[in-house]
Amino acid sequence: MATEEDGCPHGDVGESPVTTGEEPNSPRVEQLLETHRGALENGRLPMTVYNNEEIFETELRRIFGRAWVFVGHETEIPEPGDYAKRYIGKDPFIFVRGEDDEIRVLFDTCTHHGSQLCKAEQGNSSHFRCPYHGWTFKNTGDLAGIPLRNQAFEGLDPDEWGLHEAPRVENYKGLVFASIASEGRSLEEYLGDFKWYLDVHLDIAKGGMEVIGEPHRWRADSDWKSGADNFSADSYHTGVAHRSVFEVGFGDEDISGTAGQETQRHVTHADSGSTSLRLLEPDEDIFFGYPDEYVTDEKLSDRQYELAAACGAATGTIFPNLSFIHLAATNDPDKPLDGFFSLRQWQPVGPGEMEAWSWVLVPAEASEEYKKRAYDVALGTFSPSGNFEQDDFAVWDGIAEAAGTVFAEKQDVQMNYQMGMPGIGQAEIDEDWDGPGTAWDDNLEEGTCRTFHGNWQKAMNGEEIGMQYPEDHI
Ligand code: FES
Ligand SMILES: [Fe+2]
Repeated sequence: MATEEDGCPHGDVGESPVTTGEEPNSPRVEQLLETHRGALENGRLPMTVYNNEEIFETELRRIFGRAWVFVGHETEIPEPGDYAKRYIGKDPFIFVRGEDDEIRVLFDTCTHHGSQLCKAEQGNSSHFRCPYHGWTFKNTGDLAGIPLRNQAFEGLDPDEWGLHEAPRVENYKGLVFASIASEGRSLEEYLGDFKWYLDVHLDIAKGGMEVIGEPHRWRADSDWKSGADNFSADSYHTGVAHRSVFEVGFGDEDISGTAGQETQRHVTHADSGSTSLRLLEPDEDIFFGYPDEYVTDEKLSDRQYELAAACGAATGTIFPNLSFIHLAATNDPDKPLDGFFSLRQWQPVGPGEMEAWSWVLVPAEASEEYKKRAYDVALGTFSPSGNFEQDDFAVWDGIAEAAGTVFAEKQDVQMNYQMGMPGIGQAEIDEDWDGPGTAWDDNLEEGTCRTFHGNWQKAMNGEEIGMQYPEDHI
C-alpha cells in the first residue's frame, strides 16, 4: 500500500477537531454517528443512516453545504446565454455562461421577494425576468431592470441587488463544480490523487469528451448514498442483480464484470474518490469500447494509457454524489460493443429519497453516426429505461424502506460491509499497484465502499472534506 512517506499525499487522517464553525450536531445525530463509527471499524453499517430525517438534514449542511458538488459539464452551455437549472444539495441554482463568456452558478431566487427565475430546465437567454414583479437580471447576474423604477425604486442602488452566486466555482477538464462554502480546499486539492483516475476517462478521447442531449432525471425512493456506494466499486452485485442482462445478450459478462472471475481486476480508491477498473488481459486493447481512431495517448502517462487500453468497464464515485460509468456495451446482441461515458449524480431529495441525474458523454471528435449509436447504447443500459439501471433501482428502493423502519432503529440493524477485511475473504491489497491510492488484487472486496462511508462519517463529524484517507476503514 502506498503511504505518505512514499510521497502519496493522503492528507489528514488523524483525529481532527470539528472545524465547521456551525451548530453542533443534535444529540440523536451524534449518537448515530458514534454507532456508525464503531460499526464501520468492524465492517458494519447501521442502516438507519439511509433513511432518517435528522441525518438527512445534517447531510445537507455538513456535506452538501461544504463539499465541491458537480453542477454540469461545460459543453452543456457552450454559447453565451446558455443556461441549465441545477442543484447543490436541495438548493436551486442557474448554471449559466454569461455574455462575458464566464461560467457562473447563480442562486435561483429573485433578490426582490425571492421568486424563482428559472422556469425552464435548459435554454438560452440574455436575461432572466422574474415572473412576480418583473425585476430583470442579465445572465451575468447583474440587476438590469425594475418596473416603475422612477416611482418605486429611484434611490435603489442596482449594484447591491444582483443575483447571489455560489462563492466558489471551478472547472476541471470540463467538469464544473461549485461549493456554497466560501472557504475550503481548492477543487484540485479536493480531487487530490483521484485526478489521476479521472484523467484516464477525460483525456483518452481526442478533443476531449462532450455531453450529448440533456441529462435524464428521475425520482426514486432510494437514498442518495445507495448510488454513491454502489458506483464506488460494488462489483459483487453485477452477476446477480444484472444477471438477466447478460442472459439476454445485452452485456458482455467478461467486460462488465461478474465478480470472482479470473480476469484481472483492481479496485482502488484515492482521496475524494473510489473506482473499480475491470481490466482485460494486457494484449486485448478495448479503450472502453471506442474505436482506435477516437483515442489518443497525448495527455496521459504510459501507465494511464495502458489502463485505458485494458479497461472495458469502470465505475467510480467522487465524494459526495458524483459517479460515473465508462462502458463498452450494446443495445442489440447482434451488434458490436460501443463505448460511452455516463456521469451520474445522486441528488438528495429527502430521507430515503433521491433524484438521479444521468449525462451521456462521448468523444467530441467522434462521427455523428457514432455519437448517435453510443447515445442509444447508453439509453439502453444506464438511463431510466436502461436495463442495468432498472436492476439497480429495484434493489436500492428496498434498502431505504427497511432503513426507515422503527425496527431498524430500535434493534440497531447493521448491514455487512466486511468483504476484503482480514480473515473474511481472499482479496488482498496489491502492494505492487503503480497508481495512486490502494488497490486490491481482485474485486471481491468492499474497502472502497467502506472508504466512502468513512468519508461520509468524517464529513458529518465536521472534519475537512476531501483529501481524506480513512485507512482505518479499509
Ligand atoms: S420577487 Fe422578483 S420581482 Fe418581485
Ligand atoms: Fe449495478
